Amino acid sequence: MKTKIIKISPDHPDAQAIAHAAIVIKNGGLVAFPTETVYGLGANALNDQAVRNIFLAKERPADNPLIVHIADLADLSILARSISPLGQKLIRTFWPGPLTLVLRKKRIVPDAVTAGGETIAIRMPDHPVALALIAASGVPIAAPSANSSGKPSATSAQDVFQDLDGRIDLILDAGRTQIGMESTVVDVSGKQPILLRQGGITKEQLEEAMGTPFNAPGNSTGIARSPGMKHRHYAPHAKVVIVHYETPKKMADKMQEMILHFRRQGKRVGILAMLRKTQKRPSADVTLFAGATPAHIGRNLFRCLRLMDARGADIILVEGIPEHELGAVIMDRLRKAAETGRGK
Ligand code: TXA
Ligand code: MG
Repeated sequence: MKTKIIKISPDHPDAQAIAHAAIVIKNGGLVAFPTETVYGLGANALNDQAVRNIFLAKERPADNPLIVHIADLADLSILARSISPLGQKLIRTFWPGPLTLVLRKKRIVPDAVTAGGETIAIRMPDHPVALALIAASGVPIAAPSANSSGKPSATSAQDVFQDLDGRIDLILDAGRTQIGMESTVVDVSGKQPILLRQGGITKEQLEEAMGTPFNAPGNSTGIARSPGMKHRHYAPHAKVVIVHYETPKKMADKMQEMILHFRRQGKRVGILAMLRKTQKRPSADVTLFAGATPAHIGRNLFRCLRLMDARGADIILVEGIPEHELGAVIMDRLRKAAETGRGK
């Protein structure tokens, strides 16, 4: 299959390009499209075979369910059963936006979408291209992040092309995505809300809206594990090692020690610097600066991990950052990359 790329304005999407992409969706094809978080790999959520093709293209394990994207609140009642008052409040507060809600599903939803489960994850993305595509397709769009399974999510059309060229029909290229990390996933299908994945809406924002903290049984962070979390995640080819920050001097010394250690093993070492660019740094084979604020780091994080691979790093030494608000999301992604990455 030849993968076509169409450039499209992120703010004022061209109606003809959208119409073309919508026809691909209606015909059961696969379209990668931008959202405010990361690129999604979309198919008609009500077409079982089209949804199965998403799993094939990404080589995604079939037991990891997908998020369904809607552009109109009216579509909720097609897909989901009754929504709790808390669910409704979160929808009013955060949609459109980077919050995915897990709800009880209706029978019309194909098993492939929900991995056979009784619940469905739904979100309304905050991106003109995504919303226009869903509206023009006339169906909800199931879309995981548009990367090969296990790799860092795609934050540009080039990332999508690198992973999925020849496996999907079309990529809508609207430049780099704004947030750079995926949506937050909250299960509101039961009595208590459960935070399954941290993301673009922070835990602090959610707790403020809910008026209560999350409470995951047997766990002090309040964060449970979503079904997909047992799989390899966000991992570049290189091995990710997190170096915890104490003082600038201690960090620099520790980094230098680790560089020498890995060099003795014949490895090419990369440093991913966070927050403080100007600080004196030990030399490494590749040095990238992720950004001066958590928002900037979030936007650049997956791109930096992919760039490290492109520049041939075997090891990525990443500076840890304080874990609140977006900092917690960044550290969550890095920890998963460090835990589940294969290294070389
Ligand atoms: O920002 C995002 O969420 C992006 C854009 C494209 O919307 N999508 C995305 O999808 O990150 P994906 O497939 O990479 O991650 C979906 C997460 C997985 O952790 C999956 O296990 C969880 O949502 N999930 C999906 N359906 C679920 C369900 N019914 N119950 C619990 N978790 C679910
Ligand atoms: Mg993903």
